[in-house]
Amino acid sequence: MSDTQSFDVVIIGGGPGGYIAAIRAAQLGLKTACVEKRGALGGTCLNVGCIPSKALLQSSELYAETKHGLEEHGVKLSGVELDLAAMMTRKGKVVSQLTGGIEGLFKKNKVTYFKGAGRFVDATTIEVALNDGGTETIKARETIIATGSTHVDLPGVEIDEKRIVSSTGALEFEKVPGRLVVIGGGVIGLELGSVWSRLGSAVTVVEFMDRITPEMDGEVSKQFQRILGRQGLKFRLSTKVTGADTSGEAIRLTVEPAKGGDAETIEADAVLVAIGRKPYTEGLGLEAVGIETGPRGRIEVDDHFRTNVPNIRAIGDVIKGPMLAHKAEEEGVIVAEMIAGQSGHIDYNLIPGVIYTWPEVASVGRTEEQLKADGIAYKPGKFPFSANSRARAVGETDGFVKILADAETDRILGAHIIGPDAGTLISELVLAMEFKASAEDIARTSHAHPTLEEAVKEAALAVDGRTLNM
Ligand code: FAD
Ligand code: NAI
Repeated sequence: MSDTQSFDVVIIGGGPGGYIAAIRAAQLGLKTACVEKRGALGGTCLNVGCIPSKALLQSSELYAETKHGLEEHGVKLSGVELDLAAMMTRKGKVVSQLTGGIEGLFKKNKVTYFKGAGRFVDATTIEVALNDGGTETIKARETIIATGSTHVDLPGVEIDEKRIVSSTGALEFEKVPGRLVVIGGGVIGLELGSVWSRLGSAVTVVEFMDRITPEMDGEVSKQFQRILGRQGLKFRLSTKVTGADTSGEAIRLTVEPAKGGDAETIEADAVLVAIGRKPYTEGLGLEAVGIETGPRGRIEVDDHFRTNVPNIRAIGDVIKGPMLAHKAEEEGVIVAEMIAGQSGHIDYNLIPGVIYTWPEVASVGRTEEQLKADGIAYKPGKFPFSANSRARAVGETDGFVKILADAETDRILGAHIIGPDAGTLISELVLAMEFKASAEDIARTSHAHPTLEEAVKEAALAVDGRTLNM
């Protein structure tokens, strides 16, 4: 084996977890390689996830706003038209610029990039089936598995990525579906449901639970559903889809009440299945090294990201925790630092979650439901955007900021925002919680006027019952 094929660290998977781990490991002086089979770096997130979905959310928002939302500002337009092909071309460019950028970062940091599928031969040997043909065998002192996740299938509703699609197909429709049924009222369903609804589809969301985004703070989910309903999305809650008949021109979905009862049929021109994602380890050869997987194929790791094979670690969607790009990135940094002999820690309670609909929804820490279930005494402080002067000026008054603070210590335990730029506003609260701040700390911090951030300050004041502008 030549020296160039032996590495201190080999990372399998070039998504947000893997590529960030590779860059950090190389920065720390470790001889590093990354194996990625997709043909482009950036993983699910850059290629078929976060980035293309946000590109389409932005374009579709501009279209809907131009078509329906400018008159109240005194801007009159006529003849606004959709050019879906141009919208898709722009999305493709955004993706390729970013994925190409990571290749540049690999070169800059001297990370060796193998384009192909990696498979364990033994605990220190990986065989790469190169995308261009042939194989390469590489030796690794330490390996990081960062192979990510894939969509969960729904029995009886077979995905063909044309008419019945996962999120990947829903980013590629060639024409706007007349009737789109979204199965699953979670993050993907609501973001991509919003995109197609804005572009003209009649969207129905079928959700198994009795509310959309069931993991979120209940008050936020309720308000979220009301706002999306006003935008034209329809909801069938506590309902399950049991089959799809694709033999006719329209797809006929059979649905039933979640708890059982009479079946009925819903017709659709396209169906998006978005009922969650599961870890992806296909073809990785885990059995060759004896790595055990847990529920849904998840790789079990200790708090140093070690699998049951000590020199093989795993990060990102393939292990426990929220399936989010920034969570995978944090783990990528820490695992590289641990391999280099440093220490690190992630507080999973402080990983924010954002839904990039309009308005946006963002949260960090505990929900009211979780605090109640755990018997923790808390004080809520809430402030609506309708009472925030900047929200009024820009005409985005839906939603609120809610802060939950410990009843005894005033320490912030959770924060939930639905409203304009919620995904940006939440950062202040994440940082505050990282510094173990109290609600009073935020209430006493000067916030520029007029800004949406003042709603955060007012919610902090509301924890102590002393809002000033309401
Ligand atoms: P991945 O990004 O899945 O990367 C794993 C990579 O490993 C893949 O490129 C795969 O090809 C490669 N691979 C797998 N097996 C092998 C092998 N044997 N050999 C070589 N390569 C292999 N998260 C957010 O935080 N914000 C968002 O806005 C957001 N939007 C999303 C929208 C959609 C539609 C979807 C589907 C997901 C979204 N996510 C979002 C989630 C985010 O994409 C994931 O959490 C993130 O990509 C996980 O990173 P990862 O590195 O663990 O895995
Ligand atoms: P999800 O877990 O967010 O939502 C799935 C929804 O489907 C849940 O509400 C669930 O109750 C429902 N469901 C499950 N089985 C069902 C069935 N048989 N019939 C009807 N409804 C059913 O999963 P989703 O939306 O697929 O997204 C997967 C993951 O991708 C997210 O959890 C998130 O980690 C990541 N993601 C993050 C984004 C962001 O950060 N903005 C955007 C998109 C995805």
